[in-house]
Amino acid sequence: MPLIRLDSLPRHVAVIMDGNGRWAHQMQLPRTAGHREGSNAVRRTVRACRRLGINTLTLFAFSEQNWERPVYEVRALMDLFREFLIKERPEVLRTGIRVRSVGRVRRLPLYVRSLLQQLESETAQLDGMTLQLAISYGGQEEIADAARRLAEKAKNGEIDPASIDENSLAAELPSTEAGPVDLLIRTGGEYRISNFLLWGCAYAEFYFTRTLWPAFGEEELFRAISSFQKRNRRFGRVVTEERSQAPRLAQSSVTPAHV
Ligand code: IPE
Ligand code: IPE
Ligand code: MG
Repeated sequence: MPLIRLDSLPRHVAVIMDGNGRWAHQMQLPRTAGHREGSNAVRRTVRACRRLGINTLTLFAFSEQNWERPVYEVRALMDLFREFLIKERPEVLRTGIRVRSVGRVRRLPLYVRSLLQQLESETAQLDGMTLQLAISYGGQEEIADAARRLAEKAKNGEIDPASIDENSLAAELPSTEAGPVDLLIRTGGEYRISNFLLWGCAYAEFYFTRTLWPAFGEEELFRAISSFQKRNRRFGRVVTEERSQAPRLAQSSVTPAHV
Protein backbone atom coordinates (compact mmCIF):
# COMPACT_ATOMS: atom_id res chain seq x y z
CA MET A 1 0.00 0.00 0.00
CA PRO A 2 1.64 3.30 -1.02
CA LEU A 3 2.05 5.89 1.71
CA ILE A 4 -0.02 9.00 1.34
CA ARG A 5 0.06 12.25 3.25
CA LEU A 6 -3.07 13.08 5.16
CA ASP A 7 -2.23 16.79 5.24
CA SER A 8 -2.55 17.27 1.49
CA LEU A 9 -5.35 15.05 0.33
CA PRO A 10 -7.23 16.05 -2.80
CA ARG A 11 -10.33 17.88 -1.61
CA HIS A 12 -12.51 16.65 -4.44
CA VAL A 13 -11.95 13.22 -6.01
CA ALA A 14 -14.03 12.25 -9.05
CA VAL A 15 -14.14 8.80 -10.60
CA ILE A 16 -15.11 7.55 -14.05
CA MET A 17 -15.99 4.01 -13.05
CA ASP A 18 -15.32 2.20 -16.31
CA GLY A 19 -14.70 -1.42 -17.23
CA ASN A 20 -17.60 -3.35 -15.71
CA GLY A 21 -18.48 -5.01 -19.01
CA ARG A 22 -14.91 -6.06 -19.75
CA TRP A 23 -14.48 -7.41 -16.24
CA ALA A 24 -17.58 -9.56 -16.72
CA HIS A 25 -16.35 -10.70 -20.13
CA GLN A 26 -13.05 -11.81 -18.58
CA MET A 27 -15.00 -13.77 -15.99
CA GLN A 28 -17.28 -15.21 -18.68
CA LEU A 29 -20.24 -13.57 -17.03
CA PRO A 30 -22.96 -11.32 -18.46
CA ARG A 31 -22.24 -7.59 -18.48
CA THR A 32 -24.84 -7.05 -15.78
CA ALA A 33 -22.77 -9.21 -13.40
CA GLY A 34 -19.95 -6.72 -13.97
CA HIS A 35 -22.23 -3.87 -12.94
CA ARG A 36 -23.22 -5.76 -9.81
CA GLU A 37 -19.58 -6.31 -8.87
CA GLY A 38 -19.02 -2.65 -9.70
CA SER A 39 -21.46 -1.66 -6.98
CA ASN A 40 -19.24 -3.49 -4.46
CA ALA A 41 -16.31 -1.40 -5.67
CA VAL A 42 -18.47 1.70 -5.11
CA ARG A 43 -19.08 0.65 -1.51
CA ARG A 44 -15.34 0.02 -0.95
CA THR A 45 -14.38 3.35 -2.47
CA VAL A 46 -16.97 5.38 -0.56
CA ARG A 47 -15.85 3.77 2.70
CA ALA A 48 -12.17 4.34 2.00
CA CYS A 49 -12.68 7.99 1.06
CA ARG A 50 -14.88 8.59 4.07
CA ARG A 51 -12.31 7.07 6.40
CA LEU A 52 -9.47 9.00 4.81
CA GLY A 53 -11.30 12.27 5.20
CA ILE A 54 -11.87 13.14 1.55
CA ASN A 55 -14.22 16.12 1.45
CA THR A 56 -16.09 15.30 -1.77
CA LEU A 57 -16.30 12.20 -3.92
CA THR A 58 -18.09 12.37 -7.26
CA LEU A 59 -18.92 9.08 -8.96
CA PHE A 60 -19.91 8.85 -12.62
CA ALA A 61 -22.62 6.23 -12.40
CA PHE A 62 -24.51 6.73 -15.65
CA SER A 63 -23.98 9.15 -18.51
CA GLU A 64 -26.56 10.81 -20.72
CA GLN A 65 -25.01 8.77 -23.53
CA ASN A 66 -25.48 5.51 -21.59
CA TRP A 67 -29.24 5.75 -22.32
CA GLU A 68 -28.27 4.47 -25.79
CA ARG A 69 -27.31 1.08 -24.36
CA PRO A 70 -29.59 -1.94 -24.79
CA VAL A 71 -32.83 -1.65 -22.84
CA TYR A 72 -32.11 -4.68 -20.66
CA GLU A 73 -28.72 -3.29 -19.62
CA VAL A 74 -30.22 0.11 -18.76
CA ARG A 75 -32.93 -1.65 -16.79
CA ALA A 76 -30.36 -3.75 -14.91
CA LEU A 77 -28.42 -0.60 -14.03
CA MET A 78 -31.56 1.15 -12.79
CA ASP A 79 -32.41 -1.88 -10.64
CA LEU A 80 -28.89 -1.80 -9.20
CA PHE A 81 -29.17 1.92 -8.42
CA ARG A 82 -32.40 1.22 -6.56
CA GLU A 83 -30.83 -1.65 -4.64
CA PHE A 84 -27.79 0.45 -3.83
CA LEU A 85 -29.86 3.37 -2.54
CA ILE A 86 -31.88 1.06 -0.28
CA LYS A 87 -28.97 -1.03 1.01
CA GLU A 88 -26.51 1.78 1.61
CA ARG A 89 -28.95 4.14 3.29
CA PRO A 90 -28.27 3.01 6.89
CA GLU A 91 -24.50 3.28 6.51
CA VAL A 92 -24.76 6.59 4.69
CA LEU A 93 -26.82 8.02 7.54
CA ARG A 94 -24.61 6.47 10.23
CA THR A 95 -21.39 7.79 8.75
CA GLY A 96 -22.79 11.24 8.04
CA ILE A 97 -22.47 11.21 4.28
CA ARG A 98 -24.31 13.90 2.36
CA VAL A 99 -25.63 12.49 -0.89
CA ARG A 100 -26.43 14.74 -3.80
CA SER A 101 -27.02 14.03 -7.44
CA VAL A 102 -26.19 15.85 -10.63
CA GLY A 103 -27.60 15.10 -14.04
CA ARG A 104 -30.98 15.01 -15.72
CA VAL A 105 -32.57 12.99 -12.93
CA ARG A 106 -36.02 13.60 -14.41
CA ARG A 107 -35.10 10.97 -17.00
CA LEU A 108 -34.68 8.33 -14.28
CA PRO A 109 -37.58 5.98 -13.56
CA LEU A 110 -39.62 7.08 -10.58
CA TYR A 111 -38.53 4.08 -8.48
CA VAL A 112 -34.93 5.34 -8.66
CA ARG A 113 -35.63 9.07 -8.64
CA SER A 114 -37.81 9.00 -5.54
CA LEU A 115 -35.25 7.01 -3.51
CA LEU A 116 -32.46 9.28 -4.68
CA GLN A 117 -34.34 12.45 -3.82
CA GLN A 118 -35.38 11.03 -0.46
CA LEU A 119 -31.76 10.22 0.41
CA GLU A 120 -30.65 13.65 -0.76
CA SER A 121 -33.12 15.44 1.47
CA GLU A 122 -32.48 13.12 4.43
CA THR A 123 -28.74 13.74 4.25
CA ALA A 124 -28.75 17.39 3.21
CA GLN A 125 -27.48 18.60 6.59
CA LEU A 126 -24.81 15.92 7.10
CA ASP A 127 -21.19 16.93 6.82
CA GLY A 128 -19.14 13.73 7.03
CA MET A 129 -18.36 13.68 3.31
CA THR A 130 -20.24 14.75 0.22
CA LEU A 131 -21.00 11.91 -2.16
CA GLN A 132 -22.03 13.40 -5.45
CA LEU A 133 -23.63 10.91 -7.81
CA ALA A 134 -23.55 11.80 -11.49
CA ILE A 135 -26.52 9.91 -12.92
CA SER A 136 -27.95 10.61 -16.34
CA TYR A 137 -25.19 13.20 -16.40
CA GLY A 138 -23.43 14.85 -19.30
CA GLY A 139 -20.97 17.70 -19.00
CA GLN A 140 -22.03 19.34 -22.26
CA GLU A 141 -25.72 18.95 -21.38
CA GLU A 142 -25.10 20.59 -18.00
CA ILE A 143 -23.40 23.58 -19.65
CA ALA A 144 -26.13 23.84 -22.32
CA ASP A 145 -28.87 23.78 -19.65
CA ALA A 146 -27.05 26.54 -17.75
CA ALA A 147 -26.66 28.63 -20.91
CA ARG A 148 -30.39 28.32 -21.58
CA ARG A 149 -31.26 29.46 -18.05
CA LEU A 150 -28.95 32.47 -18.36
CA ALA A 151 -30.48 33.34 -21.73
CA GLU A 152 -33.96 33.23 -20.19
CA LYS A 153 -32.86 35.49 -17.35
CA ALA A 154 -31.37 37.93 -19.84
CA LYS A 155 -34.55 37.86 -21.91
CA ASN A 156 -36.61 38.64 -18.79
CA GLY A 157 -34.32 41.52 -17.93
CA GLU A 158 -33.06 39.84 -14.75
CA ILE A 159 -29.43 39.99 -15.83
CA ASP A 160 -27.36 42.03 -18.25
CA PRO A 161 -25.85 39.75 -20.94
CA ALA A 162 -22.65 41.78 -20.68
CA SER A 163 -22.30 40.68 -17.06
CA ILE A 164 -22.07 36.97 -17.94
CA ASP A 165 -18.64 35.64 -17.15
CA GLU A 166 -17.10 32.36 -16.01
CA ASN A 167 -18.26 32.97 -12.45
CA SER A 168 -21.91 33.57 -13.30
CA LEU A 169 -21.95 30.61 -15.70
CA ALA A 170 -20.32 28.37 -13.08
CA ALA A 171 -22.94 29.46 -10.57
CA GLU A 172 -25.61 27.98 -12.87
CA LEU A 173 -23.89 24.59 -13.04
CA PRO A 174 -25.17 22.24 -10.32
CA SER A 175 -21.94 20.25 -10.25
CA THR A 176 -19.80 23.27 -9.35
CA GLU A 177 -21.43 23.37 -5.92
CA ALA A 178 -19.04 20.53 -5.05
CA GLY A 179 -16.04 22.68 -6.01
CA PRO A 180 -13.41 22.02 -8.66
CA VAL A 181 -12.15 18.48 -9.14
CA ASP A 182 -8.65 17.97 -7.77
CA LEU A 183 -8.12 14.36 -8.75
CA LEU A 184 -9.93 12.60 -11.58
CA ILE A 185 -9.53 8.83 -11.63
CA ARG A 186 -10.55 6.77 -14.65
CA THR A 187 -10.47 3.00 -14.46
CA GLY A 188 -10.71 0.66 -17.44
CA GLY A 189 -7.71 1.82 -19.43
CA GLU A 190 -9.29 4.50 -21.65
CA TYR A 191 -7.69 7.93 -21.84
CA ARG A 192 -10.76 10.10 -22.23
CA ILE A 193 -13.20 12.17 -20.21
CA SER A 194 -16.42 10.83 -21.82
CA ASN A 195 -18.42 14.01 -21.17
CA PHE A 196 -17.86 13.91 -17.40
CA LEU A 197 -17.37 17.07 -15.31
CA LEU A 198 -16.07 19.23 -18.16
CA TRP A 199 -16.19 22.49 -16.23
CA GLY A 200 -15.02 21.12 -12.90
CA CYS A 201 -12.07 19.27 -14.43
CA ALA A 202 -10.50 22.45 -15.86
CA TYR A 203 -7.48 22.03 -13.56
CA ALA A 204 -7.96 18.48 -12.34
CA GLU A 205 -5.03 16.09 -12.11
CA PHE A 206 -5.79 12.94 -14.10
CA TYR A 207 -5.00 9.41 -12.99
CA PHE A 208 -5.67 6.66 -15.49
CA THR A 209 -5.45 2.99 -14.62
CA ARG A 210 -6.02 -0.21 -16.56
CA THR A 211 -7.67 -1.74 -13.50
CA LEU A 212 -11.27 -2.53 -14.37
CA TRP A 213 -13.77 -0.87 -12.03
CA PRO A 214 -15.00 -4.05 -10.27
CA ALA A 215 -11.37 -4.76 -9.28
CA PHE A 216 -10.78 -1.25 -7.92
CA GLY A 217 -10.08 -0.95 -4.23
CA GLU A 218 -8.29 0.90 -1.50
CA GLU A 219 -4.81 0.08 -2.76
CA GLU A 220 -5.43 1.58 -6.19
CA LEU A 221 -7.10 4.59 -4.56
CA PHE A 222 -3.96 5.10 -2.50
CA ARG A 223 -1.84 4.84 -5.66
CA ALA A 224 -3.96 7.52 -7.31
CA ILE A 225 -3.70 9.82 -4.30
CA SER A 226 0.01 9.17 -3.99
CA SER A 227 0.45 10.10 -7.66
CA PHE A 228 -1.64 13.25 -7.10
CA GLN A 229 0.59 14.25 -4.20
CA LYS A 230 3.65 14.15 -6.43
CA ARG A 231 2.18 16.53 -9.00
CA ASN A 232 3.19 20.15 -9.23
CA ARG A 233 -0.02 22.11 -9.70
CA ARG A 234 0.69 25.44 -11.30
CA PHE A 235 -2.73 26.68 -12.43
CA GLY A 236 -1.06 28.54 -15.26
CA ARG A 237 1.29 30.41 -12.97
CA VAL A 238 5.00 30.25 -12.45
CA VAL A 239 5.70 28.44 -9.23
CA THR A 240 8.88 29.50 -7.51
CA GLU A 241 11.26 26.95 -6.06
CA GLU A 242 10.30 27.96 -2.56
CA ARG A 243 6.57 27.52 -3.11
CA SER A 244 6.95 24.19 -4.87
CA GLN A 245 8.93 22.68 -2.03
CA ALA A 246 7.42 19.44 -0.90
CA PRO A 247 5.75 19.60 2.50
CA ARG A 248 7.43 17.79 5.37
CA LEU A 249 6.98 14.23 4.32
CA ALA A 250 7.83 11.89 7.09
CA GLN A 251 6.16 13.89 9.81
CA SER A 252 2.60 13.22 8.81
CA SER A 253 2.70 10.05 6.80
CA VAL A 254 0.09 7.85 8.29
CA THR A 255 -1.45 4.80 6.77
CA PRO A 256 -5.01 4.50 7.97
CA ALA A 257 -6.26 1.11 8.98
CA HIS A 258 -7.76 -1.08 6.34
CA VAL A 259 -11.41 -0.48 5.63
C1 IPE B 1 -18.95 1.31 -16.67
O1 IPE B 1 -18.63 0.08 -17.20
C2 IPE B 1 -20.35 1.37 -16.15
C3 IPE B 1 -21.23 2.28 -16.89
C4 IPE B 1 -20.88 2.98 -17.91
C5 IPE B 1 -22.60 2.40 -16.42
P1 IPE B 1 -18.96 -0.29 -18.71
O2 IPE B 1 -20.32 -0.90 -18.76
O3 IPE B 1 -18.79 0.89 -19.59
O4 IPE B 1 -17.86 -1.37 -19.00
P2 IPE B 1 -17.02 -1.55 -20.32
O5 IPE B 1 -16.37 -0.24 -20.63
O6 IPE B 1 -17.97 -1.97 -21.38
O7 IPE B 1 -16.02 -2.61 -19.97
C1 IPE C 1 -18.23 6.52 -18.96
O1 IPE C 1 -18.05 5.22 -19.38
C2 IPE C 1 -19.53 6.67 -18.20
C3 IPE C 1 -19.55 6.05 -16.88
C4 IPE C 1 -18.55 5.50 -16.28
C5 IPE C 1 -20.82 6.12 -16.20
P1 IPE C 1 -18.48 4.76 -20.82
O2 IPE C 1 -18.15 3.32 -20.93
O3 IPE C 1 -19.88 5.15 -21.09
O4 IPE C 1 -17.52 5.65 -21.73
P2 IPE C 1 -17.05 5.44 -23.24
O5 IPE C 1 -18.28 5.05 -24.02
O6 IPE C 1 -16.04 4.36 -23.23
O7 IPE C 1 -16.47 6.74 -23.65
MG1 MG D 1 -17.22 1.60 -20.64
